[in-house]
Amino acid sequence: MEKKENQSNQQENNSIPSLELNIEMLQKNTKPKKKEYRNLGELISRVTKQEMEELIQKQNTAGREIELAEIPEEYLAKAKKLLSEETTSTITERWANKYKEESSKFWDKFYKSNKDHAFKDRNYFYQALFEELLEKERFKDQERVALLDIGCGTGSTMFPLLRRTKKLDFYGIDLSPKALQLLKENPEFDSERVKNVFVHDITKSDIPDLPEKSFDIVTLIFTLSAIHPDHYVPVFRRLKKMLKPNGVIVFRDYAVYDLSQLRFNQKENKLSENLYVRWTGTLSYFFSTEVIAKIASETEFKLLKNQYTSRQILNRKKCLVMHRIWIEALFENTN
Ligand SMILES: C[S@@+](CC[C@H](N)C(=O)[O-])C[C@H]1O[C@@H](n2cnc3c(N)ncnc32)[C@H](O)[C@@H]1O
Repeated sequence: MEKKENQSNQQENNSIPSLELNIEMLQKNTKPKKKEYRNLGELISRVTKQEMEELIQKQNTAGREIELAEIPEEYLAKAKKLLSEETTSTITERWANKYKEESSKFWDKFYKSNKDHAFKDRNYFYQALFEELLEKERFKDQERVALLDIGCGTGSTMFPLLRRTKKLDFYGIDLSPKALQLLKENPEFDSERVKNVFVHDITKSDIPDLPEKSFDIVTLIFTLSAIHPDHYVPVFRRLKKMLKPNGVIVFRDYAVYDLSQLRFNQKENKLSENLYVRWTGTLSYFFSTEVIAKIASETEFKLLKNQYTSRQILNRKKCLVMHRIWIEALFENTN
């Protein structure tokens, strides 16, 4: 697996909430008890104080994280073994269908209880995902670049991008009205630069009110994992219609064998292979590069990038070392 810059956010990090989905809890909006967390002791290494100090020497500016050249074989072997254990879902078909088709309810509830603290600003993404495109390559000579963010939420991708470059005209959709309300209430919201953000569920129909073939960049940042895999091909076809010829989809999301997948991998959370439901009722899919390649091939996108990125997360106080894995891809519209 190849390396790439990365950093976790609040929902990705180690305080991922439970895993047992309990509708009563959801209705009362209370969190599950800690004992419902799956114990992943065997995937989290304990090191000595001295080893921890040595690891800290290697730290990057992000603090507790170390970019890895590759995912350690030992971790992967344990993770594969854990995932291969049979886990049969106990979620009924009726609820499975609700999670698939009614996710706006669950996301809206999520944003009502988490407000805009749900996802930290993704400040590190400019350099990792956009700098080359905007300054060195494809769009370097273009004065204005139109970007459409799918599942923009409260703007955790948008605001850092707007801070870093004046080149972007920003558009966004999200299926949660509450998320967009919070986004528009943010003091940094600037209607001159944020041209249009509105409520739309990308799994239900084409995007209304925006002209087709008018976007240079479409972003899917931790959004596709929240969508049921049955919708992926139709969603990519829809997004393709919005792109200019030569436009690109910038994708980043959870990858298979990530620590959070192992935590989810129990009967109360598993819906199907690599697909889980959080206690909030929102979906979480874990991608492999093979799945990304299949989507690209079925929707006739050219894949310019399709790779895993990995980081080692250090808990200095407890002398613990964890591994997180994500996936990044760049889809080019060649039509
Ligand atoms: C994990 S959050 C990521 C938010 C944001 N992109 C970020 O990087 O922090 C997933 C977002 O996708 C939105 N979303 C989920 N399914 C969607 C759909 N079918 N159509 C539009 N937005 C959707 C959710 O409301 C949520 O804001």
